[in-house]
Amino acid sequence: MKARIVAGAAGRPLAAAITTELGIEPTACVVERFPDGEVRPTVACVSGGDVYVVQPTGPPAGSHVVELLLILDACRRAGADRITAVVPYFGYARQDRRSRGGQAVGARVVANAIASTKVDRLVVVDPHTPALEAMCAMPVEMLTAVPILAHALRASIPSDAIVVAPDLGAVKLAEHYASQLGTRVVVVRKTRETGTRVRAEEVVGNIRGRPAVIVDDMISTGGTIEAAVRTLLEHGAAPDMVVAATHGLLVRPATDRLDALPIRRILVTDTIDQREKKPPSVDVHSIAPMLADAIGRLHRGQALDELLIRT
Ligand code: R5P
Repeated sequence: MKARIVAGAAGRPLAAAITTELGIEPTACVVERFPDGEVRPTVACVSGGDVYVVQPTGPPAGSHVVELLLILDACRRAGADRITAVVPYFGYARQDRRSRGGQAVGARVVANAIASTKVDRLVVVDPHTPALEAMCAMPVEMLTAVPILAHALRASIPSDAIVVAPDLGAVKLAEHYASQLGTRVVVVRKTRETGTRVRAEEVVGNIRGRPAVIVDDMISTGGTIEAAVRTLLEHGAAPDMVVAATHGLLVRPATDRLDALPIRRILVTDTIDQREKKPPSVDVHSIAPMLADAIGRLHRGQALDELLIRT
């Protein structure tokens, strides 16, 4: 059974880098767009193959999810033997519960939609919540970019830097960074008021006089990072901060917000294509070698071990 890499529109640069790493050609997938917004993908020769469909579901999340579903269905109908959805950024994962009555559990709805395509496996990177695994009918491999970003951080942060979780949900991630960087964790307690506005309420732990390395799974509008930076400064942190996040969604007004803060460097990965919108202060570290490694191991039936997230 041959390994085949098929990319959706949002996954093309990453898929190209993965195929280069694996030394194989990408399998063509043409996505036709209709004037009303519908998409119709056509995949080439996946019959009998071990197919990996690469499509992060970043902005615009809705259309990228639909495109992913249609490509998975197309691969199944074209006779693929085994199909793995490689969704490095899994949009809707933040909707893992209802925060008030009348809402949906969006993560589960999207997980069910993906399962309905009869996909064999899902691969994600630093999902917003590990609870995603329990929401999915198919096996889920949760990879982490923490070692990649921690390696990049190691060379550039002062030895007295402290890792900061900008909200309670980021504590596990922060602990993983701290163990890689040999430091401790301080936590900011935050409340989300709207999709673009958050309020930081207190800092748990001592940050006085120390440089902060703020880590999160994603930067979307930058509200969480802005609130964390301002609160850390109020608590005496050194005005020399570094931010690391796996997913750089960087939707408006993230860039304006981040530019106005005393942040020396922002590190993200390429789970979201940064080629066009990346501000100069953002360094992008590729996860393509890790995804290529994971795909190679899955193809050969080997364990993913150290590539997996620690829960
Ligand atoms: C939320 O809990 C996430 O981990 C991120 O902190 C959040 O989604 C980032 O969004 P924004 O940049 O819009 O504050």
